[in-house]
Amino acid sequence: MRLHVADHPLITHKLTVLRDRNTPSPVFRQLTEELVTLLAYEATRSVRVSPHEIQTPITTTVGVKISEPRPLVVPILRAGLGMLDGMVKLLPSAEVGFLGMARNEETLEPTTYAERLPEDLSDRQCFVLDPMLATGGSLGAAMEFLFQRGARDVTAICLLGAPEGVAAIEKQVEGRDVTLVLGALDERLNEKGYIVPGLGDAGDRLYGTV
Ligand code: PRP
Ligand code: URA
Repeated sequence: MRLHVADHPLITHKLTVLRDRNTPSPVFRQLTEELVTLLAYEATRSVRVSPHEIQTPITTTVGVKISEPRPLVVPILRAGLGMLDGMVKLLPSAEVGFLGMARNEETLEPTTYAERLPEDLSDRQCFVLDPMLATGGSLGAAMEFLFQRGARDVTAICLLGAPEGVAAIEKQVEGRDVTLVLGALDERLNEKGYIVPGLGDAGDRLYGTV
């Protein structure tokens, strides 16, 4: 697994405002979208492209276009939905699949309540969106769905990750072509499975359920 942790003052600035408990939902949503677009720049570094000839007003030249089949973007509901607009702004030709997952707050195990993905992912570059990588249970289960559909090239974008979650994903995807892009790698999980210092419950903060 390749791990990329962002190291850019603009990202750290936006994350600081996002973490602040006084930041209201509308600002939280806006910042989430902006952060995804910045992280997507790194996450799409290996997006597949093919040569494409065009005519400029001056001459003929060969550039590139994103290859077929189109990349697949998969937000993990609910909180991952807050990342979707920022991602598709950068990758407008992408197809979007959905996975609904909720973590049991007692056992910290994820359950899947919705799934809408293409049947065959063997040729697709997949981009999974979830703001929080805590124990890694939700992202790990999402990746299993994609692998079972044949996915071989998966990139996950998370705003914050805990070392425990990174280690769990690393172990689970051993030998596979997986990239994990984080806005920041935080210190640890607390006894309730929340990321420290973190930002609290991402879904609640996005959608005002406080
Ligand atoms: C949050 C978050 C991740 C998951 C991370 O979702 O958005 O999906 O927890 O925790 P994990 O790494 O320990 O699995 P939650 O289950 O709270 O659902 P929500 O998005 O509907 O709020
Ligand atoms: N899910 C969240 O939304 N926040 C955390 O800190 C951990 C899991």
